[in-house]
Order: sequence, then C-alpha cells, then structure tokens
Amino acid sequence: MYVSRNDEPTTAHASAASSCGCSTQASPPSPAPAAEDARLHERLAQIDHKVVVLSGKGGVGKSTVAVNVAVALASQGFTVGLLDIDLHGPSVPLMLGLEDAQPTNHEGALVPLEFATNLKVMSIGFLLPSRSDPVIWRGPLKHSLIKQFLSDVEWGQLDYLIVDAPPGTGDEPLSVIQLLGNLDGALLVTTPQEVALSDVRKCVRFCGEVNCPVLGIIENMSGLVCPHCGETIDVFRRGGGASLARQMGVPFLGEIPLDPALVRAADAGKPYMTAYANSATAQAFRQAIKPLLAQAKQGGSQG
Ligand SMILES: Nc1ncnc2c1ncn2[C@@H]1O[C@H](COP(=O)(O)OP(=O)(O)OP(=O)(O)O)[C@@H](O)[C@H]1O
Ligand SMILES: [Mg+2]
Ligand SMILES: [Zn+2]
Repeated sequence: MYVSRNDEPTTAHASAASSCGCSTQASPPSPAPAAEDARLHERLAQIDHKVVVLSGKGGVGKSTVAVNVAVALASQGFTVGLLDIDLHGPSVPLMLGLEDAQPTNHEGALVPLEFATNLKVMSIGFLLPSRSDPVIWRGPLKHSLIKQFLSDVEWGQLDYLIVDAPPGTGDEPLSVIQLLGNLDGALLVTTPQEVALSDVRKCVRFCGEVNCPVLGIIENMSGLVCPHCGETIDVFRRGGGASLARQMGVPFLGEIPLDPALVRAADAGKPYMTAYANSATAQAFRQAIKPLLAQAKQGGSQG
C-alpha cells in the first residue's frame, strides 16, 4: 500500500504490499519510471472505453453520477471498472458500502473489489491513512501517487472504466486525464445554479486544452422529487445545462432531479440504480449513458 493507515503520507513510492493484510510479502523496491510506464500502458490497453466524470466545482454530484453510470452499464451486461481517484474526498467506498473493504494484492498488483461479478471497484480511499481525515498532499506527490495507483491496479479486461475524478480543473484531474490517455471522453456534471454553470464552461474549455472529448453535460439536482407524491418540483431554475450545452456545442445528456432516495441509497451504501431501478431518476441515468453505449457500438478499443 502507498501509505499505511497510521503513517504520514510522505511517500508515493512506498510499496503497495504492506497494509493489505498480507504479511508474507516484503515491500518491493520503488518501480523505475520506465517500468511503471510500461505497466500503466499494459493495464490500460485491456480497457476498451475510458470515461472520466468531471465537474468545475465540488459537491455537484460527480461521485453519484460515476457510481450510478457504472451500475447502469454493469446492469446492461458490460464488464465495468469504477475508479475513484479523489484524494481529498473519496466517496465511492461509502456510496457502495465498501468503507471497510481492503483491496488485496496479487503479485504486487492491487486487485479491485468485486461489487458484482462484472463491476469492479477501486478507490484511492482504500489506501489513504485515515478515511475521515483530510489528507494534505503536495502537488508533485499527487501526480506520482495517481500514476503509481493507475499502474498498480489490475483490472483485467474491461468494457468500461468509469473514473470519478477530483473536482475542478486543477492538477489532479489534469494528471488523471494525461495518465489515462486516449479517453473516450468526459461526462461533465453541473447543477442548475449559475455559478456551477460558469464553472462547467471552464471545464469544457479545460477538456479542449487537454484534448479530452466532451461526451456531454449532465444537469444534476435539477428539480426536486417530492417524497410524498413523486412529482418533480422546480427548486432552482432548470434548463441551464441544456442551454449551456447548446452554446458550447456539446451534447446535453439530461437532467437528474434532486431525489431524497439518492441520498438514502448513498448513505446506506446501496447503488440507487439497483434499489430504485424503475424510478424516473434511474431512467435519467440510463438516458445519460446513451453516448457511452453508442461508443461501444462503434466498436473497437480505444487502446
Ligand atoms: N440528484 C441528487 N439528489 C439528491 N442528492 C444528491 C443528488 N446528487 C448528489 N446528491 C448528494 O449530494 C452530495 C454530494 O454528491 P457527490 O458526493 O456525488 O458530489 P461530488 O461532486 O462527487 O462531490 P465532491 O466534489 O466532494 O467529490 C451527496 O451527499 C449525494 O448523495
Ligand atoms: Mg466526489
Ligand atoms: Zn408532492
């Protein structure tokens, strides 16, 4: 493991073998950069489609979208990996009830957890010293940690890798996008408020600068599903995401309402998509994955 639970996160090149519960293995030395690059390339070559979930701003529902998109794809029979690479607030383990899980080690590689036979999950949160304390990382350390993490996770063959990226357009999403290389593209999550919309504008430009195609914009927390009657009530002005998408010339993938059941599902560690498969919100997630399915139909590996 990168850092043991009780240690300061002072090195990104500590072994990945020390706090997985496997006490028989000595830590291998830090990988040489070239060997790490080769491993990263080899692992990513087994993944047909790579999609990153981004937002210009924190707290707009990236992790919620990443989890439910991954579950929606898995429920269509695809083999899916869900990767949470948010160093500061990894929330995928919580949302899937995996907060006490420990990934195992296989010949020095990290083996993802199997949430379902065709849904594998890996979170950088599994490896952080304490899941409740925010961790302060220095910039270059973050990049090498993300790189080591990406090259150490043994996904095997995947149809889709869905990546829950850190918020914003800073160094971390940049590292993730550069290291993954050859992405199918990004799903951009926004909320109806104007500030989040201007942040997503920045995010679209960022994608342009790093040559990451924009698969589309999802407007989350768009209207409120009444817990009594199930009708959707407008809370904030809706439709901003759609008009922004038009302005920026990128696809609009739909609105996901504020749904108390989403919070309940996340708090209970159950994916919403399976717990409430027939709801309008689940339908909205299924709508949002259409461009991903279209990528699969076009066929061929992205490398
Ligand atoms: N459509 C929704 N309806 C109700 N609650 C939602 C919805 N989307 C997200 N939430 C809730 O809002 C909170 C923030 O969502 P989430 O963690 O997915 O955002 P995020 O963009 O990943 O945040 P961060 O930037 O911190 O990583 C969570 O408690 C989540 O359950
Ligand atoms: Mg998140
Ligand atoms: Zn009502």
